[in-house]
Amino acid sequence: MSAVIEVDNLRKSYGAAVAVDGISFAVQAGDCFGLLGPNGAGKTTTIRMIYGFTPRESGRLRLFGMDCDAAWRVLKAGIGVCQQENNLDPDLTVRENLEIFAAYFDLPSEVVRERVASLLHFTALEGREQASVRDLSGGLMRRLVLARALINEPQLLILDEPTTGLDPQSRHQLWSRLEELKQRGLTTLLTTHYMDEAQRLCDRLVIMDKGKILVEGAPLDLIRQHVGISVIEVVAPCDDMRRMLQDKGLSHEDLGQRLVIYSSDGDALYRELLDKHCREGCMLRPATLEDVFLRLTGRELRE
Ligand SMILES: Nc1ncnc2c1ncn2[C@@H]1O[C@H](COP(=O)(O)OP(=O)(O)O)[C@@H](O)[C@H]1O
Ligand SMILES: [Mg+2]
Repeated sequence: MSAVIEVDNLRKSYGAAVAVDGISFAVQAGDCFGLLGPNGAGKTTTIRMIYGFTPRESGRLRLFGMDCDAAWRVLKAGIGVCQQENNLDPDLTVRENLEIFAAYFDLPSEVVRERVASLLHFTALEGREQASVRDLSGGLMRRLVLARALINEPQLLILDEPTTGLDPQSRHQLWSRLEELKQRGLTTLLTTHYMDEAQRLCDRLVIMDKGKILVEGAPLDLIRQHVGISVIEVVAPCDDMRRMLQDKGLSHEDLGQRLVIYSSDGDALYRELLDKHCREGCMLRPATLEDVFLRLTGRELRE
């Protein structure tokens, strides 16, 4: 396998504030790689440096095995980007947004026609070609942004929070499209706040905070390493349960009104808790990436 993105000691600061603090990772061909982290962690700054929107302060970046400073123009043609903010042209129609963007890539008009038609179909925007972007819902705009990012048939797709603010139907629709693209071999770099999204789509991911990478790995491995197999949540816990957890040295967080217990043998512990300590408000569930995220980045509000 060859790396499509290799980032080595990438750094960026704004004045005295360090946004990206010397991070390194590699994304292998065909993988979906996730950048996760709280607001302000440095995700957008990182990917903007990767697609050349923000200049790097220091660090090395190789794309498709090439040094990106040497071959930037060539490399850019292989990348599709969906930025965090919607940057469609509101004065144009759906079709015009695609056609005008295609003009950057010097494609023959016949090719543009075919690609626009197939992307409208792929993103279920057929029949809306003449709609003004102003009249589109958030979900439709996201689909158009995706269609536009694919117009140059990129080998690398970069998405910054592609589903933030979307309703569940639109999120699931977008996930299926991304899964379909992955089946076709497209490499994807994605940032997200949704842990279920990362768990479903990403082969590997990093969790970053304050400009640094905290952990890297496959979602399931990270869950096993940092949380375990199951989690028991107890609402309104009583004191003897707290004592029992302390006595047994069980890994848990005490949030006052709620106890979150991390366990690799959830079933037996759950039964014991039910039998001896509480009859209500005790729930057993599989450990998730969200547990990993909260354990590593804490529960305090950001920004
Ligand atoms: N253009 C900018 N000027 C000054 N500070 C910035 C700029 N862009 C980002 N930052 C700061 O850098 C940090 C990382 O931001 P960002 O990369 O947008 O984080 P994320 O995408 O993870 O929320 C934040 O503290 C943010 O305020
Ligand atoms: Mg961001």
